[in-house]
Amino acid sequence: MKGLLLAGGHGTRLRPLTYTGNKHMLPIANKPMLMYGFEHLRSAGIKEIGIVLGPLQEGIIDSFGDGSKFNVRITYIEQPDPRGIAHAVLISKKFLSDDSFAVYLGDNLLKESMPKLAKEFQDSGADAMVVVSKVKDPSRFGVVKIQDEKIVKLVEKPKQFLSDLALTGVYFLRPSIFPVIETLKPSWRNELEITEAIQSILEKGGKVTYHTVSGWWKDTGRPEDILEANQLVLNDLKTSIKGNVEDGASVYGSVEIAEGTVIRRGASIRGPVAIGEGSEIGDEASVGPFSSIGSRVKILGAEIENSIVLDGTTISCKERIMDSIIGKNSKIVSNLNNRSAVRRFVLGESSFVSL
Ligand code: TTP
Repeated sequence: MKGLLLAGGHGTRLRPLTYTGNKHMLPIANKPMLMYGFEHLRSAGIKEIGIVLGPLQEGIIDSFGDGSKFNVRITYIEQPDPRGIAHAVLISKKFLSDDSFAVYLGDNLLKESMPKLAKEFQDSGADAMVVVSKVKDPSRFGVVKIQDEKIVKLVEKPKQFLSDLALTGVYFLRPSIFPVIETLKPSWRNELEITEAIQSILEKGGKVTYHTVSGWWKDTGRPEDILEANQLVLNDLKTSIKGNVEDGASVYGSVEIAEGTVIRRGASIRGPVAIGEGSEIGDEASVGPFSSIGSRVKILGAEIENSIVLDGTTISCKERIMDSIIGKNSKIVSNLNNRSAVRRFVLGESSFVSL
């Protein structure tokens, strides 16, 4: 079995963060989002992984290289325009050749056993297997209708309620999908829809099976989804303190503090919190639950909660910052002595905020 990891697209809903970088390299608990899908494919014993790249590729090839350091072989496949998930599969036909394959949307995070899923698909002999999860707002997703434990219909973003079982971003397919995609017409959003391709297999009498996620699933299209994914991953954080926690600093709960980071006397860290290398949490600063702080970050005086602060950023103010994503190398500064009400930001790279 081969793996196809999708990292194309424009990531418009994550602007301004995606003006300067690829959304798949945004950190979730201080690890690039794309690494989660990649590790999942590897965990299923997949040794050949294709990565579909869109126009914004920054950092992806640098991080993953030819795959040898991860003991897999990586092939990069260019998709200059995001013409749909089925389109991404079709242009990867040469790489996928006559193998069965798992397609993994690089902006999806899943808590599930990949080896189990891969085995289930191989044993089923099905043409396609989809992975589904119950959601509150099915109109935002592709959904499947199930009767007597069999899929009877798949619809992309249904206008009328069909079911609350959404298609997650993991699909198991075989080369029989290629001729089906070749007959697809672009949808209203000008994309070749994988949901339509699988529906078409079903209509032609093919076998399509499903697996319901037993853990959790998160599609990280919007800033609030990134924060939620960060929470879900941090929930399983194991404490590891390699940096320096000065006497008089308070550290509770599960925390990861990387090498070269210093937590100053008087600072407070309430886990789950992950802090990268070479950062400083200053006296009177506090980093609260569900925050990921990158490398070379300085938090001086501020209170941070449920937020992601990217590498190289300085926050020096007496503000309370919640539910925020602060881009790389940004600065938030203020001269005020009193703490204000809560602040919320989604700040792109190199932003400057003076309060
Ligand atoms: P989407 O979230 O549908 O699209 P997007 O990433 O461009 O974001 P937005 O809607 O905010 O503009 O994409 C889902 C995943 O599939 C994501 O990981 C990107 C990937 N993708 C491709 O690789 N090629 C494509 O043609 C499309 C549409 C998506």
